[in-house]
Amino acid sequence: DGKFTVTLIEGDGIGPEISQSVKDIFSAAGAPIKWEPVDVTPVLKDGKTVIPDEAIESVTKNYVALKGPLATPIGKGHVSLNLTLRRTFNLFANVRPCKSIAGYKTPYDNVDTVLIRENTEGEYSGIEHVVIDGVVQSIKLITREASERVLRFAFQYAEDIGRSKVRAVHKATIMKMSDGLFLSTARKISQDYPNIEFDAELLDNTCLKMVTDPTPYNDKVLVMPNLYGDILSDMCAGLIGGLGLTPSGNIGDECSIFEAVHGSAPDIAGKGLANPTALLLSSIMMLQHMGLHDYADKIQTAIFKVLAEGKTITGDLGGKAKTHEYASAVIKAMK
Ligand code: IPM
Ligand code: MN
Repeated sequence: DGKFTVTLIEGDGIGPEISQSVKDIFSAAGAPIKWEPVDVTPVLKDGKTVIPDEAIESVTKNYVALKGPLATPIGKGHVSLNLTLRRTFNLFANVRPCKSIAGYKTPYDNVDTVLIRENTEGEYSGIEHVVIDGVVQSIKLITREASERVLRFAFQYAEDIGRSKVRAVHKATIMKMSDGLFLSTARKISQDYPNIEFDAELLDNTCLKMVTDPTPYNDKVLVMPNLYGDILSDMCAGLIGGLGLTPSGNIGDECSIFEAVHGSAPDIAGKGLANPTALLLSSIMMLQHMGLHDYADKIQTAIFKVLAEGKTITGDLGGKAKTHEYASAVIKAMK
């Protein structure tokens, strides 16, 4: 039927409500997407908790998925499903752009950062053990292979979006070996991209400079190891108004999962109050990734128009609109 099938992981808490907004807006836009909803509630298999086969098969078959928030247990219990998904599909690059939204005032204007986070290793390797009581080790694993892969992706991505600078963010002054390997790999890969200017910056310095004035970062793509990217991407989100407004894409060679980075907000779940913007912007990244730029532009323009007008916005942005009223305003703005 000329449609692309996309796996939909609605997620926990506010997940179903914000997914509904995406579905409504996509169908009003005439986007050629057929959603295939799957349940990722972990199941027990050979004594291990794993993602149901059906979900894995769906993503593998469709190559593309959109995902709402999944609650993450802290400290104990099964490992984060979010991480399991990234690992299962080898989604090695996490792309996190943050662009100021007209109509939503923060202390910063014209933020336009693009951050690429290594998504498979570093402190997220999950290798931890007790040495003796009171002493634990958590291993930060950095490999040349994973570093090369995400760095190459970053240079390529910079070329694709028309940015001429790539900056590696690191702490090789302290993590001499692990970040040292990441950095030397970055220098090596940069040789293959003569049209792109490469430099490096210490993470603490990046934070200091970015909260002072983010605009010098608007012509760059930042690339960094996993945990740094986790933290710095939240900081970037803070510059433009928070995780309710920022998209993200987990990209692999085989498939990709686009997801909202915010949590499942159990306190407002089911009340129709959630802001679907982050999931919507993630779905727009997904359309761009699929080459469906016309639909991406159409929906994005409408979203930015509604946010800029500021009349039909959700409570987190200081408005009174319910989730579905906001979605309706976006649909109206597309006409
Ligand atoms: C993110 C989140 C996840 C992470 C959590 C939910 C496991 O904070 O996507 O940034 O730490 O990567
Ligand atoms: Mn995070």
